[in-house]
Amino acid sequence: MSPRVCPSCGARYSYELERCTFCDTELVDTESESGVVLAVTEVSVPSVGHEDTPYWCALLETNDGGTLIVKLGRSVLVGQHVTVGVPDEAERIVVGVLGTGLMGKGLVELLLSCGYDVVWVARSQASMDTAREKLTERLSRVMDEGELLERYRRLNAGIDMSALRRCDLVIEAIVEELEAKKSWLRTAEKAMRSDAVLATNTSGLPLDELACVLERPERFGCLHFFNPATRMRLVEVSVPDTTSAATLERLEAFSRALGKVPVTVSSRPAFVVNRVLMPLINEAVRSLEEKAAPAEQIDEAIRLGLNHPMGPLELADLIGIDVIVDIMDNLVSRTQDANYAPRPMLRQMVEQGHLGRKTRRGFYDYSAPRA
Ligand code: NAI
Repeated sequence: MSPRVCPSCGARYSYELERCTFCDTELVDTESESGVVLAVTEVSVPSVGHEDTPYWCALLETNDGGTLIVKLGRSVLVGQHVTVGVPDEAERIVVGVLGTGLMGKGLVELLLSCGYDVVWVARSQASMDTAREKLTERLSRVMDEGELLERYRRLNAGIDMSALRRCDLVIEAIVEELEAKKSWLRTAEKAMRSDAVLATNTSGLPLDELACVLERPERFGCLHFFNPATRMRLVEVSVPDTTSAATLERLEAFSRALGKVPVTVSSRPAFVVNRVLMPLINEAVRSLEEKAAPAEQIDEAIRLGLNHPMGPLELADLIGIDVIVDIMDNLVSRTQDANYAPRPMLRQMVEQGHLGRKTRRGFYDYSAPRA
């Protein structure tokens, strides 16, 4: 159901209602709007049939960087991601995240910002401790100490898979390696309740091969988030043939509840976005290898010539060069098309440990502030 808005006072409703409870004007349908709460005020007013009705006015930063004031029928917290028109129930489930890398951290940040209860599982206590430190640093930029404590009360972080028993949905975000994912997915499924849904964040490993190691393949699918998970609006939703229609619906609804736009795609290798992006990055690297121009100028040419917000080399640094090489290698082995093979410079960078932003060195040097 699309949210309804009052054309007179701007109140929005996420349930079937004919007239505004504040000013009795007839409501009209509207598009979903979402963003991060920058400020919120609680207001109490008398309304039709009620002496004192509270509502909340929130200032949202929208996904395109604009601001928007919305009137809500529920309280929200500063830093929370809110989608107007999404029922509160959708936000009450417990979500598990496996992995403490770039995507694991980003997903936990997104989920805590949206007010979810989160169970976060790492393969070692040391990697969890480092990831928590980074998460605290990032959340502290958008919320004060009290809010941070409130969010951390919702977080159960550790290395014990049995904690996944509480989860309604678990998202796996470990390294892009088939055998490692199979093993983690199988172990996670054993720890989860039989009614819970398991999703992988793979960038393009074969979903049917992952599904076939599971006891409940009908409750398994892919939620392919993009980096940074808190800001990127797209989620590619993809499922193998064994997934039930109900699971696909849950994955799409969950993406919407996070304020994302789910685009459901077939489980072809690398889905849609990476299938288009990987050749672009590879050709940009070839241009660099052939000394067509320095990295800054190649990126600038693509930004201005194709109207992309980021150049392919800076985007490669953001994604992680090792992740890109894994995706390209998987593409070659699954399509038998050598055109997807990573350029020699990419492999060399992985050997040298120049993996992009996460190691502070990739096509650019991040150890010092960039001009
Ligand atoms: P990352 O390299 O930052 O993190 C990988 C995580 O996997 C770390 O927590 C590491 O400790 C863990 N890990 C490594 N080897 C393991 C093993 N053998 N068993 C269990 N855990 C292991 O990688 P990132 O970027 O977070 O990627 C994770 C997943 O998300 C991959 O499937 C990747 O394709 C996908 N993805 C990545 C995006 C990106 O922009 N980096 C975007 C969308 C999806």
